[in-house]
Amino acid sequence: MQFQFLSAIVSTNNETIGNPMSDRQVILRTESLSASFENKKILNDINLEISKRNIMAIIGPSGCGKSTLLRCINRMHELIYGSTLSGRIYFENKNIYDKSVDPILLRRRIGLVFQKPNPFPSMSIKDNVLSGLWLTQKINKKTDSDHLVENALQQAVLWDEVKDRLDDSSLSLSGGQQQRLCIARALASKPDVLLLDEPCSSLDPIATQRIESLLLSLKNTYTIVIVTHNMRQAARISNTTAFLLSGRLIEYGETTHIFTSPQETQTEDYLSGHFD
Ligand SMILES: Nc1ncnc2c1ncn2[C@@H]1O[C@H](COP(=O)(O)OP(=O)(O)O)[C@@H](O)[C@H]1O
Ligand SMILES: [Mg+2]
Repeated sequence: MQFQFLSAIVSTNNETIGNPMSDRQVILRTESLSASFENKKILNDINLEISKRNIMAIIGPSGCGKSTLLRCINRMHELIYGSTLSGRIYFENKNIYDKSVDPILLRRRIGLVFQKPNPFPSMSIKDNVLSGLWLTQKINKKTDSDHLVENALQQAVLWDEVKDRLDDSSLSLSGGQQQRLCIARALASKPDVLLLDEPCSSLDPIATQRIESLLLSLKNTYTIVIVTHNMRQAARISNTTAFLLSGRLIEYGETTHIFTSPQETQTEDYLSGHFD
């Protein structure tokens, strides 16, 4: 039975991760968050807390609003024609929808990595890493940029594979390498939060395993929120899990609790594979 199998993964995982939510400081909090496209409500009254230096998995069937939630958190939802939003999202206790918040600077602190690796095709590997900074930060000295590039690629565990070909096109990389390049591009902006929208969905198991160990190595420095359809992945890497269904947050909490003793029958049904 899938549910029991996942429970087994998560209990092993808990020994290595084991950071109770209660010990952790909240970095992001949504309050009565609702979002719509053209009057169609997509997210409905979401109240969610995300702890600092933690991996939160967001799970739920296709179309339940997972990507929309990530886009609300880094203010990309508002870029879509016909979108509206109500409620508040506090990032370090400041509402990110406050007039005084510059969305471009906010997106540097809350980076979003998309499902399909999207490096800039006409740019080299090195320029891809730096591209997020060009908008918001002057980089003059070559030594500064060399250092930034190496640092971000080291953190994304891609440096050894690309250090001798930094000027090659980003398209010369494999899918898994391109996704790590996109993570390096987000890390170069020195974010506090990394949002990842199904980052492994187009990757093979070996590339997926690399991204998973990369995320585990980053979780002591960054707050990570990962949307995944892979329940085993959620069980393997996350400390906390949030379950969305039809635009509503059904429940969230420590992954161990969600996967072994969910409070809501809808969560149990989803984890047991009763509906997609
Ligand atoms: N740009 C858009 N315009 C209109 N509707 C959209 C747009 N993007 C997503 N939606 C709709 O919003 C709902 C939630 O989508 P999404 O957040 O992408 O779900 P998920 O990531 O969970 O699959 C779906 O019904 C989808 O059709
Ligand atoms: Mg999605």
